[in-house]
Amino acid sequence: MATTTIMAPSRVAVRMTVNGVEYAAEVEPRLLLVSFLRDNLGLTGTHVGCDTSQCGACTIHLNGQPVKSCTLLTVQADGAELTTIEGLAKDGQFDPMQMGFWEMHGLQCGYCTPGMIMASNALLDRNPNPTEAEIRHALEGNLCRCTGYQNIVKAVQYAAAQRGGGAMATGEGTDLEFQPDNERPHAPENMDDWGDQLAGEES
Ligand code: FES
Ligand code: FES
Repeated sequence: MATTTIMAPSRVAVRMTVNGVEYAAEVEPRLLLVSFLRDNLGLTGTHVGCDTSQCGACTIHLNGQPVKSCTLLTVQADGAELTTIEGLAKDGQFDPMQMGFWEMHGLQCGYCTPGMIMASNALLDRNPNPTEAEIRHALEGNLCRCTGYQNIVKAVQYAAAQRGGGAMATGEGTDLEFQPDNERPHAPENMDDWGDQLAGEES
């Protein structure tokens, strides 16, 4: 009987841009995109919560669209532009959504937070002034075991206002009866402030 020999490629060449940096690599065809980001590029801000497309902790942007990177193979991102949580801050300044989560205390353990922020930014990119219901609907694919979601919604509203689209500006009330604490003395202005604050808490 004749034997048919099949040569499965052990490695596949891929190219992609991640947070503005171009990468070329050879990867196993089965390598998950989240594993490539975390293990090969060291971008561990993208979390793995479930590995089965349910929790949203691994959410990143692929060509401007939010995707769950645990459900994509690295080879499917060949030629794409990716943004992870590490790509949001610019010149040492957090983006409005990151500041919103800080100011509104939109996190507790923080495990869901990178995915929440990426999904929330994608929402504001397509809908700069979402209602509370639209925010909750947009974040249905992102699970948080800690917060009860209320402050996450406030964080998105804060960011919408900071980005110029939302109805809530700092100092205004909202339909969530939010009253911002503008007197809070230690809110960080940038990443250095955050580092200083964390250092102070440890000492
Ligand atoms: S780790 Fe990807 S959806 Fe949970
Ligand atoms: S802050 Fe802990 S899972 Fe959301």
